[in-house]
Amino acid sequence: MIKFSDIQISYGDFVAVDNLNLTIEEGEFFTFLGPSGCGKSTTLRTLVGFIEPTRGDIFIGENNITHLVPEKREIGIVFQSYALFPTMTVYDNIAYGLKVKKEKKDIIEQKVTEIAKKIKISDEQLYRNVSELSGGQQQRVALARALVLEPKILCLDEPLSNLDAKLRVDLRLELKRLQKELGITTLYVTHDQEEALTLSDRIAVFNNGYIEQVGTPQEIYNESKTEFVCDFIGEINKLTPETISYLNGLGSLADKKGYIRLERIRFDKLSENDQKIAAKIIDSEFNGTFVKYTVETVTNQELKIIDKNDGCSLREMGTEIDLFINAADIMQY
Ligand SMILES: Nc1ncnc2c1ncn2[C@@H]1O[C@H](COP(=O)(O)OP(=O)(O)OP(=O)(O)O)[C@@H](O)[C@H]1O
Ligand SMILES: [Mg+2]
Repeated sequence: MIKFSDIQISYGDFVAVDNLNLTIEEGEFFTFLGPSGCGKSTTLRTLVGFIEPTRGDIFIGENNITHLVPEKREIGIVFQSYALFPTMTVYDNIAYGLKVKKEKKDIIEQKVTEIAKKIKISDEQLYRNVSELSGGQQQRVALARALVLEPKILCLDEPLSNLDAKLRVDLRLELKRLQKELGITTLYVTHDQEEALTLSDRIAVFNNGYIEQVGTPQEIYNESKTEFVCDFIGEINKLTPETISYLNGLGSLADKKGYIRLERIRFDKLSENDQKIAAKIIDSEFNGTFVKYTVETVTNQELKIIDKNDGCSLREMGTEIDLFINAADIMQY
């Protein structure tokens, strides 16, 4: 268990993170998500021990580690820039930490081989220079180098952001599999909401040095606690006051701002509580697995909606359709 208790972190006079209270459970895959500059890396670097907080305490289990040197925290780290030794072989890069710890040669060999196998680094790759590897392979080496020391906690700061889109998706699946297999408590930093949703057991959404919401991916997405969270996570329609009052048939909507996810606007009526709203298709965007339409409603509002790709034809521009919305799917702030 990791506990941040009333943490404040400053750079000189500038307070980068404030009032941080957070508990991360053993074995959890926990993600710090938020836009650039919101304090994700600062918080992670404080846990690792590179920065001392200006207030508060950090605990790992029962131990207060707030002022402990990084080497004694037993935390493995992988950052966006691989920070490997480019002129050394993959093997020597992975073995480096064990050599520093003066482990015996045969133990080092056994541990390096074992971790390389787990992370799918081939024997052939082990004896190549790091500089001959692709970005994705180098990031595997960085991961192996961190894990070979058998840390209690793994900290990853945007480890996939230098890689191309396809590789990023492949590696994130592998990372998740590996994390579950090893059961290692993992803190992951990203500004990529899709990465956060697919990887995490829980997510903390940061904004401007504060946490806006902590929850499971489903909670963050379906029950966004603040307007910032609902807007930052995924795509969303912001409803105009006219549309909200039009949809307010059962009187359950408040006179507040309202948002609805694209996929919650339906072509079929599913329940008695669904409100019908007529609309006209004005634009379409073919995405492969789905089609995204822009429609204009009778309330003169543009909405984005999602339809599955049925393999036949796209709905034509100008087509009049009826859409159905359940007021319970509207998030209000
Ligand atoms: N060494 C530093 N000195 C002064 N200010 C800093 C330093 N590092 C970060 N900051 C500031 O602290 C705030 C938080 O920065 P941090 O690096 O934690 O953001 P981040 O959420 O990791 O962003 P990104 O997604 O861009 O990596 C920012 O306003 C940043 O400018
Ligand atoms: Mg950062």
